[in-house]
Amino acid sequence: MKKSLLLFVLFPVVAFSNSFWGKTGHRVTGEIAQNYLSGKAKRALNDLLDGHSLAFVSTFADDIKADRAYSKYSPWHYVNYPLGMSYRDSEKSEYGDIITAIEECITKVKDKNNGREDRIFHLKMLIHLVGDLHQPMHASRAEDKGGNDIQVQWFGEGSNLHRVWDKNLIESYGMTYTELASELKVVSRKKRKEIQAGTIYDWVDESHEICGDLYKSVEMGEKLGYRYSYDYNELLFQQLQKGGLRLAKILNEVFG
Ligand code: ADE
Ligand code: ZN
Ligand code: ZN
Repeated sequence: MKKSLLLFVLFPVVAFSNSFWGKTGHRVTGEIAQNYLSGKAKRALNDLLDGHSLAFVSTFADDIKADRAYSKYSPWHYVNYPLGMSYRDSEKSEYGDIITAIEECITKVKDKNNGREDRIFHLKMLIHLVGDLHQPMHASRAEDKGGNDIQVQWFGEGSNLHRVWDKNLIESYGMTYTELASELKVVSRKKRKEIQAGTIYDWVDESHEICGDLYKSVEMGEKLGYRYSYDYNELLFQQLQKGGLRLAKILNEVFG
């Protein structure tokens, strides 16, 4: 096949099948976490990540989706269970989900008997997945694939509820990840402790509950724009901040 034709055929697949808390969201989460690491965690991360920042490696788990060899990790990015139910009470997927994945990553990274490469792989996955855990549509319901099947318009262009939360909303603020992180890392000690309380089981149910509210706030085919962006600005920022502070908590515990 001619290269130009191949591009023509592949472009829509590549452009529209991406389904992730966009790169900006992950980098903001990583950059906020970077500010709340213990000395011990900083040293261990510096060694395992060869001096790279959390923001830099935070998109790795999405980048590998382009390689079929990693397809078994696709279900690691999300979990679906019925709205109104808790994760603990839900039926678990045999392929794993974001919670079992985070647990596996923590176990693999903690175990120093594990090979260095394996620990690095699972560390990069962990940094990414704690971000995804705070994108409400990644703790969602199966019927519409976490909002991917809820078509909406975003400033006149075709999108869907999942994509609005992965990237449309965050992009609409026009801020870089460093600008967002430098605003959102500012938090009182008291508030940080409140946010860091609990476990991934609490946090997934929190995202899941928010997700339920988001479903109620849109209708199929709705035209979203300035008003939606304004209404959900605070919630989006809150989720990014929580993701960052909780990632720091997990990493401090892993390397503590
Ligand atoms: N595919 C099916 N459900 C999904 C979800 N909640 N998030 C991302 N991709 C999905
Ligand atoms: Zn997504
Ligand atoms: Zn992801």
